[in-house]
Amino acid sequence: MNKRFYITTAIDYVNGQPHLGHAYEKIIADVIARSHRTLGQEVFFLTGLDEHGQKVQQAAQAEGKSPQAYCDQLAADWQAFAKKLELTNDDFVRTTDPRHKEIVQASLTRVFNAGQIYKQTYSGFYSTKEETFLTDKDRRPDGTFDPAYGEVIELQEENYFFKLGEQQQWLIDYIESNPSFVQPDHRRNEVLGFLKNNTLEDLCISRPAARLGWGIPLPFDKDYVTYVWFDALVNYISIPAAHGDATILDALKSEVRNPKSEIELWPADIHVIGKDIVKFHAVYWPIMLKAMGLPLPKQILVHGWWQKDGAKISKSTGNIIDPIAVINEWGLDAFRFYVLRELDIGPDGNWTDAGFKARYQAELANGLGNLVNRSLSMLKRYRQGIVPAKHDELAADVAKATDETRALLKQNQLQSALQSIWGLVTRANQYVDQTKPFSLAKDPAQAKRLDEVLYNLTETCRVLAVLLWPFLPGTASKIYAQLGLTDVPDKLDAATWGRLPSGHAIGEPAPLFPRKDI
Ligand code: MSP
Repeated sequence: MNKRFYITTAIDYVNGQPHLGHAYEKIIADVIARSHRTLGQEVFFLTGLDEHGQKVQQAAQAEGKSPQAYCDQLAADWQAFAKKLELTNDDFVRTTDPRHKEIVQASLTRVFNAGQIYKQTYSGFYSTKEETFLTDKDRRPDGTFDPAYGEVIELQEENYFFKLGEQQQWLIDYIESNPSFVQPDHRRNEVLGFLKNNTLEDLCISRPAARLGWGIPLPFDKDYVTYVWFDALVNYISIPAAHGDATILDALKSEVRNPKSEIELWPADIHVIGKDIVKFHAVYWPIMLKAMGLPLPKQILVHGWWQKDGAKISKSTGNIIDPIAVINEWGLDAFRFYVLRELDIGPDGNWTDAGFKARYQAELANGLGNLVNRSLSMLKRYRQGIVPAKHDELAADVAKATDETRALLKQNQLQSALQSIWGLVTRANQYVDQTKPFSLAKDPAQAKRLDEVLYNLTETCRVLAVLLWPFLPGTASKIYAQLGLTDVPDKLDAATWGRLPSGHAIGEPAPLFPRKDI
């Protein structure tokens, strides 16, 4: 059995509606998943929803619903959103799934039996909003807590704690000797700085059921439910376990087996997450896995945060982008293109409507769209849509873009790959301007030259579809359809020059990105 390339996203809190930040992360993961598929690997891509905890319980109460009914209703919107983004996820986890709950409990049992969990009385401060315990260290210089914590109460209660204290040094050593574990580098350095300059305090992994009922009961004490983050992180292994991943099932000695679909997934190749949840993924999660006897994921890939017009995206101030509205107006691929081309994985980004429209007009409508439309329209007009004899004037340009794209996709350099592909778009548009096929068509003595130019352009359009597949799957499919090709451009090997046979009849050209009055 071959291990599949396994990629995950953060699972979004179910309360609320999806926004640009959520969409961005899921699109990055989708492009990486599609890239590995186009490179010939078997892939498993997981995304989903984080449904337990106080916020959900309170939001459900406010609507007079049971938490489960509330989650079910919102989960339908989030799943529709994943479809709207054309994510190629292989599964969609909801932390209220019985298959997930079972593995959370098996994980807790494993860690408890390993002696890594103990019970203790806690007295101190607690933020209900963030569901987190606070200490005096969390106070600001003026003695107050950050308003982001909401109301902070003093509280004394017994809880279960997960031992983190003794784990610091091996984790530091691991991160130092595995530079690709946390990427980009500056995030890795932040994690190392945090681990070297702080003493890890044991993590409270329970909440009394009497205070917070909406969670997974601890298998060893039914008066408590599991802390949402312990619950949520386990999604990365619960779904592989549900698909019969032997590494996880063996480690958890769990009886859940699904012999029909045994696939090898763990360890994950990439967890894609945002910069605000690095500590949970690069500190708590590795320690949890070690306590369960499981290998660590290969990489935590941290993306930055989007702002809009230079300010925080916020529902309360109305500074939001509704991805669904943008997609309905401009098309999914215009949305995917803007977020991938505008922002590399790592830094923070800034959405502006003007920037979005400028890229749409210049790079999509006038760049790629114009190239494909004029190339195919000329072939239709001058050669009745029949591909002429092969020629290889643009073969070297195509090979360069293909090699670069292949190398960049392997390194998850999505923005650079798009730059390289657009280098080819620009080159081909220049080629039209230089060779002037519309002039050649007027001179019968130039018929052979016109054939050559038309072959070069048509074949370049075909290769562009192949290169674009991970990024703009709808556009890639449309180009193939307009070329009269019935297969899907989902394998990078198909980018080899000259695959378009002479004599082939293309389909109907149509604008890919209609020009809009902006
Ligand atoms: N439920 C937790 C994650 C648990 S993973 C085991 C959570 N959910 S969230 O809905 O708040 O965020 C989900 C993801 O969206 C996170 O990776 C977060 O960084 C990302 N983003 C939320 N807002 C964002 C932006 N404005 N920009 C980019 N990404 C952002 O955290």
